[in-house]
Amino acid sequence: MTPSNLRFSSKLPNAKTTIFTTVGNLARKHNAVDLSQGFPNFEVDEKLKSLVTDAMQSGHNQYAAMQGYYGLREIISQKIETLHNRSYHPETEITVTVGATQAIFTAITAFVNHGDEVIVLKPAYDCYEPAITLNGGVPVYVQLDADGYRVNWQEFKNKLSDKTRMVIINTPHNPSGRIFSKEDMLQLQDILRPTNCIVLSDEVYEHIVFDGNEHQSASRFEDLAQRSFVCASFGKTFHVTGWKIGYCAAPEELMHEFRKTHQFAVFCVDHPVQRAMAAYLKNEEHYLSLPSFYQEKRDLFQEGLKDSRFTFKPSEGTYFQLLDYTEITTESDEDLAKRLIVDYKLASIPISSFNEHNRQDGVLRFCFAKKRETIEKAIQILNSIP
Ligand SMILES: Cc1ncc(COP(=O)(O)O)c(C=O)c1O
Repeated sequence: MTPSNLRFSSKLPNAKTTIFTTVGNLARKHNAVDLSQGFPNFEVDEKLKSLVTDAMQSGHNQYAAMQGYYGLREIISQKIETLHNRSYHPETEITVTVGATQAIFTAITAFVNHGDEVIVLKPAYDCYEPAITLNGGVPVYVQLDADGYRVNWQEFKNKLSDKTRMVIINTPHNPSGRIFSKEDMLQLQDILRPTNCIVLSDEVYEHIVFDGNEHQSASRFEDLAQRSFVCASFGKTFHVTGWKIGYCAAPEELMHEFRKTHQFAVFCVDHPVQRAMAAYLKNEEHYLSLPSFYQEKRDLFQEGLKDSRFTFKPSEGTYFQLLDYTEITTESDEDLAKRLIVDYKLASIPISSFNEHNRQDGVLRFCFAKKRETIEKAIQILNSIP
């Protein structure tokens, strides 16, 4: 019990237990096959684990540099230059973070002031809006149509005002699995050119893009890159979401400001893991093999569902597939997600909670970053639904 004279008001009065926790708890209670939360259920590469052990045995157990271990920043810089032809100086333009979440929170905190507007494309991953609100900012939504989840750039442009401080984009996109094309990025660049907006580009699924498409990083586009924080996650790329390590890259002036917040929020990130990542990244196959690795899983999932009553547009990137259930039932996505867990022992994520006003799209999100046998079990269940 808190003392009766201790009073406070919530800075996030509307924050509830997230749908991930609710679904996850129900899934565990019913021992369900879990395709809800976005994490792999297969093992981490032994080589990566032993690199962490080696780093600990070699004595790298104290604070790392505030900006991140230099050797890691160097190889991140080389990776971006090779893939996207953009040079970020490891000394001043790259910072290692506690997952992409901390990079996102820090960038928002460093730049969003009271009353500033931030454009958020819905459906949106759930960590953006609380960070905006905690900093006194105002989220301004652009709701994407369920039919394709493509951005209407005219509508986007109409939402900009002289109060817009930041625009948040996410490609490949969670939860829809859509990717931004080069044309999308050029449109965004043109629209923002005359503005004073910073871009927060959430690219945590940068290496999970299918069907021969290329990831269109904000860093590829001259004018966009000058105003962007590009955020990435080793958790997603190397199947280690529990290690919470990522990074962001931005031009020096922006990064200078970012680090002022970073150094007092976390100061630095797990040192032995940074050493291990630096060594592991030297073999580019470790990330270049990801599209085919995950495309095989996506194809297995889709092929298995071709005769089911669910319909879908193939995921273009991320490890999520949306399934449209409107031929099966008119239930809300939350009701159906709960019924699938309780009656069929299969967990998924209802995406209405990612939408503006919890709009119902008649789709559920399934994560296929799972072992073959888990995907096969899920297929069997989904095919048995009348
Ligand atoms: C779109 C998106 N951004 C950010 C994150 C968080 O990444 P990290 O675990 O590296 O903090 C996730 C994790 O699910 C995500 O899906």
